[in-house]
Amino acid sequence: MSRFPFPAYANGWFRVAYSDELTPGVLKSAHYLGRDLVIFRDSAGTAHVLDAICPHLGAHLGVGGTIVDGDRIRCPFHAWEWGADGACKRVPYSERPPANARLRTWPVVEKNGLVLVWHHDQDAAPSFELPDLPHYGQPDWTPYRILRWTVKSRWLDMNENAVDRAHFVYVHGAHTMPESTVEADGPILRCQSRMKLGTPKGEIPGGIDTTDYGPAFQTVHLTGIIETWMVNTATPVDEEATDVTFAYSVHAVDGASDKHGVGAAIIRDLEKQMLQDIPIWENKAYLTRPFLVEGDGPFGVYRRWMKQFFSTTW
Ligand code: FES
Ligand SMILES: [Fe+2]
Repeated sequence: MSRFPFPAYANGWFRVAYSDELTPGVLKSAHYLGRDLVIFRDSAGTAHVLDAICPHLGAHLGVGGTIVDGDRIRCPFHAWEWGADGACKRVPYSERPPANARLRTWPVVEKNGLVLVWHHDQDAAPSFELPDLPHYGQPDWTPYRILRWTVKSRWLDMNENAVDRAHFVYVHGAHTMPESTVEADGPILRCQSRMKLGTPKGEIPGGIDTTDYGPAFQTVHLTGIIETWMVNTATPVDEEATDVTFAYSVHAVDGASDKHGVGAAIIRDLEKQMLQDIPIWENKAYLTRPFLVEGDGPFGVYRRWMKQFFSTTW
């Protein structure tokens, strides 16, 4: 029996690469959402994601396939050439390429240094957009540092953490349960927590604002000692595992990058929390009817929000 009542692949935007992993003229393979994919950047600089299995006789385009003239994928098996639109452009030993042959293409956006695909189990068009983040690419912000985990779970279950007030005390050793507000706004979920941070100069106010845009893209804005942005993405590899990455940037105060290492210390703490959460996540089940008591967080708000990313009810 599955530990989850909901499908492994929700409807939404999923990161499949970081922008700096794509070099024009180079074909990259990936396996996400239970499918073999190829990713490339064309001669105009646009990123494309297509299925990797060649419709001719099933070769994997990412294993020995090449980019021709900057814009077409040549299959390693019989050298058919495929355009970024999924059409067959050339069969080297035949007069006319087959008009009906189609390689599946994925809707792609490239934003904030990430390449993302839109997945919808009924093939519906994208129903929401991702934000442009104000800090990305700005000179006073450090470039992304990326933390990565492969977790045997599903992100929408893991991410319930944000509203699970009590676990912060019993899993993460917090002294008090955080005070936070959670608000759903269409595909967006905003969770704001305010706290007092201890510093050598006394307590200062701190905040963590977490915003989810759909089922697999989240920003975290940390304020207080030093301003930090994280872009968290979680892409299912298959029914079992999820590729989770946190890409963080720290506001470089006075031209120095993370002068006192405070940003790095915050991230180390988040990394520690992640390692505390993973064994729970990898073994827990998602209970449709949990036994909640007063004092537990706003699970209902979270669960109503997440249901919109599935075409079927469960
Ligand atoms: S399998 Fe790709 S060209 Fe034949
Ligand atoms: Fe946690």
